[in-house]
Amino acid sequence: MSAPADLATPALLVDRARMERNVAEMAAAMGEAGVALRPHFKTSKCVEVARRQLDHGAIGFTCSTPAEVRLLQDEGVGDLLWAHQPVGPAKVAFAVEALRRGGLMIGLDSVESAAPLAEAAGGLRVPFLLDVDTGLGRTGVDPGRAVATAIRLAETKGLELRGVMTHEGHLGRYGADRTALEEAGARAGRRLTEVASAVRAAGLDCPIVSVGSTPGATSAPFVAGVTEARPGTYVYYDSGQVRLGSATLDRCAQTVLTRVVSTQRPGTVIVDAGVKAMSSDGLAGGTLGTVCDLAGRPLEDVTFANGNEEHGYLTGAGTAGLRVGDLLRVVPNHACGTTNMWSVLHVVEGDDTVARWPIRARH
Ligand SMILES: Cc1ncc(COP(=O)(O)O)c(C=O)c1O
Repeated sequence: MSAPADLATPALLVDRARMERNVAEMAAAMGEAGVALRPHFKTSKCVEVARRQLDHGAIGFTCSTPAEVRLLQDEGVGDLLWAHQPVGPAKVAFAVEALRRGGLMIGLDSVESAAPLAEAAGGLRVPFLLDVDTGLGRTGVDPGRAVATAIRLAETKGLELRGVMTHEGHLGRYGADRTALEEAGARAGRRLTEVASAVRAAGLDCPIVSVGSTPGATSAPFVAGVTEARPGTYVYYDSGQVRLGSATLDRCAQTVLTRVVSTQRPGTVIVDAGVKAMSSDGLAGGTLGTVCDLAGRPLEDVTFANGNEEHGYLTGAGTAGLRVGDLLRVVPNHACGTTNMWSVLHVVEGDDTVARWPIRARH
């Protein structure tokens, strides 16, 4: 088609070879762990990327929003987990409609969130995973109350317990201490398998034991008794995952192409990618992403220190070498947040852009 340098900036790029390598290697690793792979769709929101994950053996997808569920159902992808509590009339009505189409499980953590859904379903089967908190402190029943909750939910007309799930998102708190992170990932996996055993001991079926995160993908899925893993970010990786040691920078497939537009103040260089291109995820950590040259090599001593809507502020001694018009590529802090800012991605192969793929199901 054309070179990335010919694109209007800012633009969202995905390096095809890196993405395909990430997809293939995670599939192989989960094969080695002996668990099913149900990637989170929120990272790409792109059917063309999802098809590659399915080609490499993903059993289906994890979704967080109704729009993601609807898009994949419309594309004929079955075996979905909507890993979010469908609370409120609109989401309950959507859940019932989506359950009627089949191939959907829902994550639930309480009788309060489940009861309106069960009632609206009017006897329709509602397959669900019990969401268990293994340390994140977000949704998920405490392990100590999991069996009692599982029993009450399973007794509710229509609800059908398929297993247990957790999102070990708290692993990010371990930062660069990969050893502690791996131990915590294994601990989360063990906690979930213990809950599954206790649920079974109470007389309930619990075939699925589902963990899910990219930093945890090297630990939690390898715990005996875990049956599936739901990493999402791995499909692109990002600067956040590099800081956690989940990947090296040369594995990051998603970049934002941006141009230097102003150098009026010494020590600060302005580019045309701001928070509407990057998302502000991770900015509290002092940067919006890793600044690289057009070939993807990180620039020494250049920090993407701040952003307005459509302007980015680069600082550091390395900015002295930058000129108006220079093209840069930025590896975002959080690929999933950046994806949600864009309607289209440009697929890059070497020095060529070879395809434009739509990003859908955005907020
Ligand atoms: C429920 C659930 N499962 C899986 C994931 C995927 O985790 P990651 O983004 O670390 O790959 C997420 C991410 O937020 C999640 O919320």
